[in-house]
Amino acid sequence: MQYQSLKLELNNKKAVVYINRPDKLNALNSVVISELEHCFNELASNDNVYVIILTGSGEKAFVAGADISELSKLNIIGAKVYAEKGQAILNLIENLNKPVIAAVNGFALGGGCELALSCHIRLASENAKFGQPEVNLGLIPGFGGTQRLTRLLTSGKAMELILTGDIIDAGEALRLGLVNYVYSLSDLLIKANELADKIASKSQYAVKQTIKAVNICDEVSESEGLKFEASLFSLCCGTDDFKEGTSAFLEKRKPSFINK
Ligand code: COA
Repeated sequence: MQYQSLKLELNNKKAVVYINRPDKLNALNSVVISELEHCFNELASNDNVYVIILTGSGEKAFVAGADISELSKLNIIGAKVYAEKGQAILNLIENLNKPVIAAVNGFALGGGCELALSCHIRLASENAKFGQPEVNLGLIPGFGGTQRLTRLLTSGKAMELILTGDIIDAGEALRLGLVNYVYSLSDLLIKANELADKIASKSQYAVKQTIKAVNICDEVSESEGLKFEASLFSLCCGTDDFKEGTSAFLEKRKPSFINK
């Protein structure tokens, strides 16, 4: 499908999704939001895609937030529908059946920071900037920021960022654990692709179970999570990939997985 505000590249088991409104710093308007939903649903069911990289077009922004010209028109009822729709799409990404790597190539503010938080792994360029500046608009985050940022950072730090609207640079994001690595802007997509290739070389059956097991951590008690882990672990032991992985190790050769 041809998108108006996304660009999609498919290459060697990977998809790179660009949010493509660089003149508006890739702000999330209703077109981008609907296209993201469509695109991630399509990618979820595309068996040729193992790993997805999400980034912004241009050299300045990943996503500079929800589109403020659209936000300014919301009323109480419309705002709830709007927030729930945004949350549903970020939940779709977080619970996708394949890994999504955020390659944060500039501003990741408000909804942009929340979008990055919904991805499974975050990488950043040196010029990346993160923040939840909604308080400056008389708002709070509405696409999951109060929840995901608080789970990822300490609650004190998340509270500080959301209460002040302060913007932090990539180095501080790395120190806080908001991103895994920081690279030069020119290296960012190269490194994201290397990471995606590494994950794509594994058993995709095991990769899928990993996402489910790690994601449930935020939903249930540790003892429930451990039960879930044991059941997914046992399912992996019934796969051809398990036989292949263990045999390859014992035979001192590289495994060749068939993802089932
Ligand atoms: N919504 C709508 N438009 C946005 C936007 C947003 N969140 N962020 C940037 N833009 C638009 C600007 O209005 C401008 O459009 P114009 O050229 O038609 O006037 C264009 O993108 C470039 O932005 P500009 O502000 O000129 O760039 P800058 O380098 O001076 O500043 C930012 C960059 C990110 C600091 C600034 O754009 C900003 O503060 N954006 C809003 C961030 C925010 O509050 N996000 C949370 C929303 S809930």
